Amino acid sequence: MRRRAMLEGCVAAVAAPMFAACGLLKSDAQPADELAFDPDEFTVRKKTVATFERDKNVTYRFYDSVVYVAKPVNKTYQSLNVSVPVEIDGNTVDASKAPILLSNSIGGYLSSAAEGGKPDDGGDRDRNRELALAAGYVVVEPGARGRDLVAPDGTYYGVAPAAIVDLKAAVRYLRHNSGRVPGNTDRIVATGVSAGGALSALLAASADNRMYDRYLAELGAADASDAVFAAASYCPVTDLDHADMAYEWNWGANPLRSGELDATASRELSTAFVDYQASLELQGADGFGPITADNYGNYLVRTYLEPAATRYLTALQDSERSSYLAANTWITWSGDRAEFTWPNFLAHVGERKKGVPAFDAFDLSSPENNLFGAGTVKARHFTPFSLRRATGDPGAQLDSDLPEKISMMNPMFFLRQRNSARAKHWWIRVGTKDTDASLTIVGNLAASLANLGDQVDAAMYWDAGHGSNEDAADFVAWIGKVTGYTG
Ligand code: DHB
Repeated sequence: MRRRAMLEGCVAAVAAPMFAACGLLKSDAQPADELAFDPDEFTVRKKTVATFERDKNVTYRFYDSVVYVAKPVNKTYQSLNVSVPVEIDGNTVDASKAPILLSNSIGGYLSSAAEGGKPDDGGDRDRNRELALAAGYVVVEPGARGRDLVAPDGTYYGVAPAAIVDLKAAVRYLRHNSGRVPGNTDRIVATGVSAGGALSALLAASADNRMYDRYLAELGAADASDAVFAAASYCPVTDLDHADMAYEWNWGANPLRSGELDATASRELSTAFVDYQASLELQGADGFGPITADNYGNYLVRTYLEPAATRYLTALQDSERSSYLAANTWITWSGDRAEFTWPNFLAHVGERKKGVPAFDAFDLSSPENNLFGAGTVKARHFTPFSLRRATGDPGAQLDSDLPEKISMMNPMFFLRQRNSARAKHWWIRVGTKDTDASLTIVGNLAASLANLGDQVDAAMYWDAGHGSNEDAADFVAWIGKVTGYTG
């Protein structure tokens, strides 16, 4: 199909004697480009998108399950879907230079297929996608391997760093096909939620780093840059090697609905956070100065939590606001601003979702233990703290392959290296009642980026839980602003 299209183009474009030089040499002397995107291989779909102003009728081209590596391990996951708007409310749209929203569906570090036939599930990712499409942008949904995949011989082939390698391969594929694939491949905005938010931040922070090369080569990934222009990271579950200490610093005093908490382990982890936070040497926003474990509660209150509560309360009807404030007397409302203390905020959040340790579980039962499995070993420890406590050996060392893999999964590692190929535009969101991870994960990610001089739009959603997205329209407008795309 692809070759015929190329020959026809040749015949039409050049005189007959040139035919051999054009068509035959291309196909016979050079290997065909296995990773060429076929612009003609689409179906036409329609959908109605409810936008802030009105419903929009969008007609778009849908490219289903396009394999993005030459040597896939599993095509179901190593493929992507592309949606390209061609008509919005009866007006023709040219998306050939539009930004590309690269929106993954990864959750729980599990495998994620680009399922083209599947109807939207109405989730928050879909909201971003459909609004982006209705704004005239190209939407790409990459699948990726995940920690649950097991080969017949018992090998876990989707554990770290498979998912990030796949996302990089997808970006390389798009850039390799620049001009063939619709949209501007230099204006890719990577987004995802939770583990997907973590991986989009990682994709954007680790751009073009050589550590991944041998994994990409094994897959036959395109030889192109995997840098993206911007990242939108919703409740990223990341900085996994420091996530347990951060969690106990944040939610250590909050109760768990079921089961006892290991108070000693919680205290030790929380204490370890002090040195970790100091080692980051981060300056807080708006002249706050160094962010330390001591002042981090105040920092979160001032930078994120009070503004989130203020936005929430401002948007309420007078009577609703009065009821909320009557039920939450720990909030001082000055007419246009909410004020409160960190300990009162923590008490308001209440139950924590996870036990101690939250990520590197002593019994190897967490998703992250599985993420750092290898070969036929399903789950491993990835922090010396849990490894030593679980084995009772105070001198135990992580498996020798782990330090590199742990770094390859952590955007903070690349930000500490000041990776200059990173994305410079960031949208970061989390709900204030999200106890899947510490709020410092977002605080440190945003502060690291701002300290490097990047453009960071970071905010929290008041009283919102894990996976929330309350300003999708603002996000889509932000894409237009940072990419400078006016349609
Ligand atoms: C996700 C949630 C978690 O609590 C976690 O530890 C890892 C991933 C998720 O929703 O993707």
